[in-house]
Amino acid sequence: MPASASGPQRPRREFNDLNVRFVTANGDLVTAATRPGLRLLEVAQGAGMPLEGTCEGQMACSTCHVIVSPDWFEKLAPASADEEDMLDLAAGVTRTSRLSCQIALDGEMDGLTVKIPGVSRDMQFG
Ligand code: FES
Repeated sequence: MPASASGPQRPRREFNDLNVRFVTANGDLVTAATRPGLRLLEVAQGAGMPLEGTCEGQMACSTCHVIVSPDWFEKLAPASADEEDMLDLAAGVTRTSRLSCQIALDGEMDGLTVKIPGVSRDMQFG
């Protein structure tokens, strides 16, 4: 049973929650509330983004490819050599491309914004 309201308005988010934003191939913005510790791929799939993640994070498919906004790209831990190799095989790769299965969310990533690669439109960033 919820406690009765004691203030004008409770903060909407829990302490450890963070929001990740996805820009779809059509340019729509989808915000997903999530928690640190999950991989970006899991959050994207949970938000309905069309990332197959076929190899489930084994860096053997590149179907989890996303394009990170430039400001966020600089803040992320760099890609490993294996990730870079797999990105070379991804369609529509840009200089801010990453494999979403290799991005573990932490509490500093509130507002992380990535684009889901499309097949027919130019990227909005990257
Ligand atoms: Fe296959 Fe990320 S899920 S490389």
